[in-house]
Amino acid sequence: MADISRRQLFGFGAAAVGGAGLGLGAGVVIARPAGAEQISETVLFHGDHQAGIETPPQAHTTFVGLDLVPGADRAALVRLMRVWTDDASRLTEGRGALADTEPDLATAPARLTVTIGFGPGVFRAAGLEDRRPSWCNPLPPFEIDRLEERWNDGDLLLQVGSDDPVSVVHALRVLLKNARNTATIRWVQRGFRRARGSEPEGTTMRNLMGQVDGTINPRAGSDDFARVVWNDGVEQPWMAGGTSVVIRRIRLDLDGWDELDRPGRDEVMGRRMSDGAPLTGESEFDVPDFDAVGPGGLKIIPEFSHIARARPLAPRERFLRRGYNYDEAPDGIGVSDSGLIFVAYQADVDVQYLPVQRRLAEADMFNQWSTPIGSAVFAIPPGCREGEYLGEGLLG
Ligand code: HEM
Repeated sequence: MADISRRQLFGFGAAAVGGAGLGLGAGVVIARPAGAEQISETVLFHGDHQAGIETPPQAHTTFVGLDLVPGADRAALVRLMRVWTDDASRLTEGRGALADTEPDLATAPARLTVTIGFGPGVFRAAGLEDRRPSWCNPLPPFEIDRLEERWNDGDLLLQVGSDDPVSVVHALRVLLKNARNTATIRWVQRGFRRARGSEPEGTTMRNLMGQVDGTINPRAGSDDFARVVWNDGVEQPWMAGGTSVVIRRIRLDLDGWDELDRPGRDEVMGRRMSDGAPLTGESEFDVPDFDAVGPGGLKIIPEFSHIARARPLAPRERFLRRGYNYDEAPDGIGVSDSGLIFVAYQADVDVQYLPVQRRLAEADMFNQWSTPIGSAVFAIPPGCREGEYLGEGLLG
């Protein structure tokens, strides 16, 4: 008896915290099948926008870049999008996909989201070059880049996130099986954050260097978020409600960073490692004062610190950062192969993202410890309603 009421309480508690803490009451549902004890949250699949972007980041996300097989055309893409849309809508609700060989693995979605993106190759294959957003291209090369072909580009993107790693793996297996005739896997990037429940909801993540990473970001559910992230469809009407994503795989030199003392690390970033506060402030969300000078006449937040270079110099130079840590088996050179799957969403890559990336590539003290080794850009089509499929505005 006591056990049951504790479970019920947990269910209500999670709903309240999830809604209030994240400012995102809508879209998150506690799924509780009649008579079942298990509680798993679901994120609505259908809507104006694809899920997995405004959704508070789940603990696990895998990004998969795919190449279309030769001969895959518009009709093949329509078939694939119909199947993927159906799979994603079922799996995110906690139901097995059609012909799911392991439907039991689908019952704990744990905020599962499936987000689909189109690389430049989709427009070529579909014969729809005139509908390609002007920014849907690989980023230009930067001097800091050490890109490895195995992490670059791709015709299609699958972004699958959940608080439960088994749900991510199961959803991906279903989606990839159903793509077998149309696309092949180009790269897979598995990312993680802290497990849900290990910190209060809404805590800014720490990357593997221990930095508080993601403080300055548009707030989910706000008008500001909508302006920064969702495309208005002026250039390409089918993109209204969609967005773009830049995925940069950035290796972090943890061994080199170890050699820098705390004050040195703080200066490189312009923020304190301990709590993420700007060097001119007391707590994480204090507004940095980039003009403040210290007793020696030097800027307190160094001019070439990461935040001094990355901050917007024009109102449009902003985007949503929703990155994930990665950690792979080391190659024998250092003791770690770790870094950040840096993920940025914005209505327009060229106007919002590129100027910032250029400034960082030009001069950012942090470049000494961070190396971009992969880069990809995708157009993320808007969401769809029941009965429609993702990408229908483009392909239909
Ligand atoms: C692995 C590479 C990177 C790491 C570890 C990293 C880490 C951080 C950290 C710790 C902060 C301060 C707290 C915050 O506001 O989140 C920050 C801020 C920021 N970073 Fe990065 N960053 C990386 C790469 C990039 C890249 C490639 C870009 C964009 C091209 C970027 C854009 C920004 C922006 C816009 C801010 C907020 C600046 C402000 O307005 O104060 N970062 N980053």
